[in-house]
Amino acid sequence: MIITIDGYAGSGKSTAAVRLAAALGFRLLNTGAMYRATAYELGRRGVDIDANPRDTAAIAWIVADFVFEMTEAAVILNGVDVTPFVYTEAMGRAASRVGTFLEVREKLKAEQRRIADDLDVVCEGRDQGTAVFPHAPVKFFFTASAETRARRRAAQDGVDLAADAGALATLIDQIAARDRQDEIRPIDPLRRADDAEAIDTSHADLDQILNHMMEVVARCRSRR
Ligand code: DC
Repeated sequence: MIITIDGYAGSGKSTAAVRLAAALGFRLLNTGAMYRATAYELGRRGVDIDANPRDTAAIAWIVADFVFEMTEAAVILNGVDVTPFVYTEAMGRAASRVGTFLEVREKLKAEQRRIADDLDVVCEGRDQGTAVFPHAPVKFFFTASAETRARRRAAQDGVDLAADAGALATLIDQIAARDRQDEIRPIDPLRRADDAEAIDTSHADLDQILNHMMEVVARCRSRR
């Protein structure tokens, strides 16, 4: 059984995905980590991902050989654990950029389907319910206000908002820019699947959200 969780950066979807997978005994597929790893590896191989036009032939040639192994906590690309390199703000932005490349999306989509094949998996990302697993029986779409998401990001990155008057506005701008890039890309943009349940985490408590998600899953299972 596939459960998809898509949504905005900082909407709390990763934490909810980890908790839901653990509660159900499902595997977890963090697809953002795959886009981050792709951005990292293209950079390491000397590709300028900001070039316009980009070198589609080189990118397609490099990603053709990509094989991912995804564990709960790690992203392993072609046998190398790249986890320590991918969780920076710069890599998040670069991941959003390579997420606009058709040749990258096609390869990662195929890898995601290969990894999840025949398993019970919570798949988390931007396009899981719309493009990768459109027939998933349970889909969620996470949102939260820009300010909530910026405050979460600050807490994660150890930014002291009280000490820096402009920091919150800067973070809100950065988040809005990334969301926009994810939403306007022509291929598999970030959007709620028609059959995905929207969850706004701005004011809700994580335990309440999880209880609700478990109820949705239980309802679906009782129908199958
Ligand atoms: O979830 P995250 O912040 O780790 O994702 C980083 C970027 O990767 C995100 O801004 C867009 C891209 N991405 C994507 O295009 N499709 C996905 N399924 C997951 C992430």
